[in-house]
Amino acid sequence: MQRGSFSGRIGFIAAAAGSAVGLGNIWGFPYKVSNGGGAIFVLVYLIICFAFCLPVMLAEIAIGRASGSNSVGAFAKLGFRKWRGIGMLGIIAGLLIFSFYNVIAGWAFGYTLEMANGNFGIADSFGAFTSNVVKIGIYGAVFMLITALIVTQGVSGGIEKASKLLMPALLVMIVALAIYALTLPHAMEGIRFYLLPDFSKLNGKVIMGAMGQAFFSLSLGMGALITFGSYVGKQENIVSSAVIITLADITIAILAGFMIFPLLGFITNGTMNDIPQGPELVFVTLPHVFASMGEPYGTIFGTCFFLLLCFAALTSTVSLLEVPVSYLVDDWKLKRRSATWLVAAVIFVMGIPSLLSAGYSANLTNFIRYPNHEKHTDFLSFVANVANDSMLPLCGSLIVIFASHIWRMKNMDAELALGNPTYQGSLLQRYMRIALPYIIPFILLFVFFTTVYKTFF
Ligand code: TRP
Repeated sequence: MQRGSFSGRIGFIAAAAGSAVGLGNIWGFPYKVSNGGGAIFVLVYLIICFAFCLPVMLAEIAIGRASGSNSVGAFAKLGFRKWRGIGMLGIIAGLLIFSFYNVIAGWAFGYTLEMANGNFGIADSFGAFTSNVVKIGIYGAVFMLITALIVTQGVSGGIEKASKLLMPALLVMIVALAIYALTLPHAMEGIRFYLLPDFSKLNGKVIMGAMGQAFFSLSLGMGALITFGSYVGKQENIVSSAVIITLADITIAILAGFMIFPLLGFITNGTMNDIPQGPELVFVTLPHVFASMGEPYGTIFGTCFFLLLCFAALTSTVSLLEVPVSYLVDDWKLKRRSATWLVAAVIFVMGIPSLLSAGYSANLTNFIRYPNHEKHTDFLSFVANVANDSMLPLCGSLIVIFASHIWRMKNMDAELALGNPTYQGSLLQRYMRIALPYIIPFILLFVFFTTVYKTFF
């Protein structure tokens, strides 16, 4: 059976950037900036993306293209069957991430409809909104359905096409929204908080936070880019593609900040005091801002904003679904269509406890109290702590160790040089030779152990 492939470089870049740009950029990044003390977080984030994440991305794409196989089979194809467990670990992480990601995507979808109806009051009843599980369940199911429909259409006909359509639309919307936000009163105070770093706020927590955010945002550590890399032609330049994907992801996150911080300046009359530092930023604070814009601006801005969030989430859920589907199609010889619906159904069911954990079920809402934490953690956040914060760095470090020590740098270099003759001997290559085998895996393991220790013990 013929495996799918991207039609060319742009298709791959659009799909991989689509995977990277997601809720993490528009919902996650701004609140983490606000939580991490503003501009200093942004600065650390940028450094980490290039110095630390780009090499990991190159390793993943190289493994994928060299093997021409899914994230599990890739290890076997390269001659190391025993290492397939890394791919399995990544798939499990991906299923867990998807299970709660889809719930949040369902919220975004629901909010789009509420905003279109001018219902800004939703901000004050966010708890009631998320506990309406039948409604959110339907929104989530619709979201899953659209994701699955795209994935059944295959690599170039589905994933690539959707990304080529959604990504430019997303860019236009976010630029337009940011420009409008910048014209509001007190926008500049927001921008100052966002862009002028206060070095006294730099600490280990900020660095670790930026690291986790960058890793998640670039879709690293679960084999998503191994899978996408396996659909890339040998003549393509994957090094420059990876740079463009990283830049695209950063650009959208930064633009999300240019949209949201002026809004926070506006709503706080420029004081930037007590700005929200958690997930409620987008779902609670922003609708208040939209309400205070007056009609019709509030409705237009609000609807566009949440539609933007849906688009961003959709290209990411597509990549989260493609990873296990690709495995089932390659290694278990399932038909793409059956594999897609099977995985989609399993993930939807896996997401039900997360769906119920935002107010509906008391037990799941107050699911667990970690030692030394005052408050209970809900089930959705618990899954995020396990999958994003723990499994991704662990799996990422194993992928890097595999690429640099088992498969070996020599083979990886040769793969990266295909389609990019200037790679051998370049500064990037020399940097990779030091960073990939000797620095990055240990930082990732450090992140893994500290997160596990700090969160669960
Ligand atoms: N990068 C996406 C975001 O920022 C989430 C995502 C999609 C992801 N696919 C992934 C994260 C694979 C890790 C691995 O929202």
